[in-house]
Amino acid sequence: MSNWDDFVSECSQCKKCGLHANRKNVVIGRGLNKPAPILFVGEGPGEQEDIQGEAFVGRAGKLLDLLLDALEFKAEDYYIANVVKCRPPENRIPTKDEVEACMPWLRYQFSVIKPSIVVCLGATAAKAIIDNDVKITKIRGNWIDKQGKILIMPTYHPAAILRDIRKREDFYLDIKKVREKLFHMNSGTN
Ligand code: URA
Ligand code: SF4
Repeated sequence: MSNWDDFVSECSQCKKCGLHANRKNVVIGRGLNKPAPILFVGEGPGEQEDIQGEAFVGRAGKLLDLLLDALEFKAEDYYIANVVKCRPPENRIPTKDEVEACMPWLRYQFSVIKPSIVVCLGATAAKAIIDNDVKITKIRGNWIDKQGKILIMPTYHPAAILRDIRKREDFYLDIKKVREKLFHMNSGTN
């Protein structure tokens, strides 16, 4: 894999785990710029994403887009990807084996996007990126500093907000922290 185009073509044909069997499309991610200061990481494609071959285009994605627009993120500020690139049947949580099989693709994306901030959307992303034992309700909203190089913000998955309106305010506050951090990074104050 020598460049992004190779990555896209290899990933699109991947059969490294059983999720390849039922997919309509491999969903790689979306974003205007690479590198980008922020990488959002979700769980895996849902029904709409599988059909359209694009990340976060269903109801959860629309909710996320609304919030990012409201907080005045610019499209070139972020890239959005998932832990697994193929839709798990019935949107079940991907298994540990599936996550392990797929992580090299996300790691490659990380190496090209070179984010300063990684936002884990939900438990699957937080477990894959931070620690398998984390509880998202406990750790969300607090920055995790990884070797002074990248900052990780764990928060809820937007689909969880659709299911439970009471989580909405915390989700908003977490994403707002990300917006403020980006502002300070851009203006050279920490
Ligand atoms: N949920 C995810 O985790 N990712 C998507 O792309 C869509 C819904
Ligand atoms: Fe390959 Fe990931 Fe799809 Fe599994 S989910 S087949 S590892 S791209």
